[in-house]
Amino acid sequence: MVSSLLSFLALSTTFLTFSRALSVRPVDDDDLSALLEASEGFVAPQAASPARSSHRLALRPRERVLAAQPVNAKVESLVDVNSPPSGPDPFDYVGDDLLSLADQVREVVDTDHPVLKMAASHFFSLKSGKKFRPTIVMLISRAAAAAANSGADVGDSVSYKDVDDMPSADVYDKQRRLGQITEMIHTASLIHDDVLDDAETRRGGDSVHKLYSNKVAVLAGDFLLARASVLLAQLGNVEVVETMANALDSLVTGEVMQAKAEPDDLTTFDWYMKKTYMKTASLIACSTRSAALLGGFASTSEETVAAEKYGYHLGLAFQIVDDLLDFTQSADLLGKPACSDLNNGQATAPILFAAEEYPELNAMIRRKFKQPGDVDRARKLLERSKGLERTKSLARWHAQQAVEWLSVLPDSPARRALVKLGNRVIVRTS
Ligand code: FPP
Ligand code: MG
Repeated sequence: MVSSLLSFLALSTTFLTFSRALSVRPVDDDDLSALLEASEGFVAPQAASPARSSHRLALRPRERVLAAQPVNAKVESLVDVNSPPSGPDPFDYVGDDLLSLADQVREVVDTDHPVLKMAASHFFSLKSGKKFRPTIVMLISRAAAAAANSGADVGDSVSYKDVDDMPSADVYDKQRRLGQITEMIHTASLIHDDVLDDAETRRGGDSVHKLYSNKVAVLAGDFLLARASVLLAQLGNVEVVETMANALDSLVTGEVMQAKAEPDDLTTFDWYMKKTYMKTASLIACSTRSAALLGGFASTSEETVAAEKYGYHLGLAFQIVDDLLDFTQSADLLGKPACSDLNNGQATAPILFAAEEYPELNAMIRRKFKQPGDVDRARKLLERSKGLERTKSLARWHAQQAVEWLSVLPDSPARRALVKLGNRVIVRTS
């Protein structure tokens, strides 16, 4: 049974690889320059940094259209993400809508196989976990709904509190499902990632493969993904299915990029940002775009573009902060080993910035910090450098971009909660 499932998975992977080769054309220079537009405003704290030219990511054809969309000119800068306006707490505002998420996932992954069921629902049974992704989906759904409801418009002098940001019940229900699907995909990818990285802990507890076995973890991740795909199809929106399928494609591509990286790739900021987009930001951007599509907005509408851009920049900010915290926080706070990136041979933003000041780091990055003493030396050089400070600035820049995209939506409780979330992402400590 297990072996036939594994052969099925191997076949599906081959099929996916083959169909990708047919349908996704390689990234070209136009793609890169289009995305550069989105990041061009960022000036790294150290001027003349070679990393500056590399804040560019590969764009899919659809995203090229998005990059051409102007931000609504009525509001130049919505708010400073460092000091967000008053408004509801992001997690509280939609908390009730997500209360039963864990129970719903447990229902969705119900199967006759008790081990598979337990493994697939493991992370959903933990009390910890902020449900970051579903929260963003619900908030963006509501912020976009404010644009559709009543006559609220950008720049209106109505108090944000009086703006109705609730979508219709059937639409909101689908958007809630989308939040659940997003969390299931994310969790599936982490279960697989922990197998690949041989990580013992996750979210403060044992990883699934440590609790069970590699085979069970691989199947549990596949199973979650399979059930998420059924739910996705049930949303009955082809564009949403395509968007979320793109997110899956990016997740796998990011993981393959990491596994197959050439030594020179590892030292380039461009490669790091692409991988960060693929592994983290794409799922968030695709889910926020999908939320707007489910809300009835057209794929190139300002609202859909803003939703996707918010997710895109917030996702990048989130991961860059994650990479920062990996150096600055203890394992207890992180719920996984501290400094794991260096120990796993990964050079992230802090080290890449530090390497501009201390080029001797490049050799260590290329050999994945494998020589005895590399990890300690790299940490010492990082401490002496401006690497951490510059990483923080990069994360802040992306968080600021995220909230600026919200300016095309009317002021509403949900929009304020999204701004606060942007702030939360850059000030978080775990
Ligand atoms: C964490 O990376 C991993 C990801 C964000 C994505 C992993 C994706 C896959 C394994 C591809 C398969 C995808 C699916 C949907 C089954 P990390 O190791 O850099 O971060 P960590 O410190 O949290 O482990
Ligand atoms: Mg990992």
